[in-house]
Amino acid sequence: MSPSNIPFNPILTADDVVVDYALQGRSETFRALKGVSLSIGEGECVGLVGESGSGKSTLGKAILGLAPITSGRISFAGADITHARGAARRRLASNIQVVFQDPYGSLDPTMTIGEILAEPLTVSGTSTADAKKAVAEMLDRVRLPSASVDRYPSEFSGGQRQRIAIARALVRRPRLVVCDEPVSALDLTTQASIIDLFIELQRETGVSYLFVSHDLGVVRRICHRVAVMYRGEIVETGDGESVTREPVHSYSQRLLLASPVADPARQAARRQAWLKLRGAPEPAAAVR
Ligand SMILES: Nc1ncnc2c1ncn2[C@@H]1O[C@H](COP(=O)(O)OP(=O)(O)OP(=O)(O)O)[C@@H](O)[C@H]1O
Ligand SMILES: [Mg+2]
Repeated sequence: MSPSNIPFNPILTADDVVVDYALQGRSETFRALKGVSLSIGEGECVGLVGESGSGKSTLGKAILGLAPITSGRISFAGADITHARGAARRRLASNIQVVFQDPYGSLDPTMTIGEILAEPLTVSGTSTADAKKAVAEMLDRVRLPSASVDRYPSEFSGGQRQRIAIARALVRRPRLVVCDEPVSALDLTTQASIIDLFIELQRETGVSYLFVSHDLGVVRRICHRVAVMYRGEIVETGDGESVTREPVHSYSQRLLLASPVADPARQAARRQAWLKLRGAPEPAAAVR
């Protein structure tokens, strides 16, 4: 997606965030984020790409209050939420939501879709009648039949389950959704329709996304800006088009060359370029 012309009002800012995980049975810790700074504007989709283990999910977890933050600061709508816990964190849940890769694992199989979607509303004090109305509206928005309310997650396909997970994330009208590889488990056609749904919902509601993906094609389609992570650091940020088509940092270039293309001749040329780059030293972080 081309850069948006939305005025930049940060809804979320991460400033020099460091996360250290305790290693079981050992005294030393593992530094998964080494001082990450990133901002997400209102109504913006920021992509986070990088190889497995680079720290993408950890940054998402840090925003959701699920990772041990050693230092740095995370602000949401101007308020410091770095160490928000308990009641403060529960209040934030109406504004910051998450969609994971595996919708089946995150949907309670013993609850109907109606119950799954109403729960976040009723626990925060919405009346049953209002919750029912909001659930029907939400199902319509994610293009699921209204009769879905009486069915269970196991009765839906992977793509439909992801629609349910998206509906659940959006039912409280959050301002930010952390999407952690939300289309990676889906086939290409389903992927495309779920990406279109994310784009449409963003247009309708003005919600912001942090969109984690290892697929540059997906990120190019949906994100206004992209950040590239490498070993716990952001090595490059820029608009979606240029970072995914003409990356500056050699790691981002390798990431691009490692993503497959259909044409065998182009694929062979990319492989040669990738092999050449593999030994190249890392330049300083590129930010544009
Ligand atoms: N709870 C934990 N305890 C210890 N180390 C962890 C924990 N969670 C993640 N890590 C480590 O932190 C690093 C970053 O993990 P993270 O899950 O953020 O990577 P990722 O970029 O999301 O990878 P993937 O693309 O495979 O999902 C990895 O080396 C991982 O092994
Ligand atoms: Mg991950």
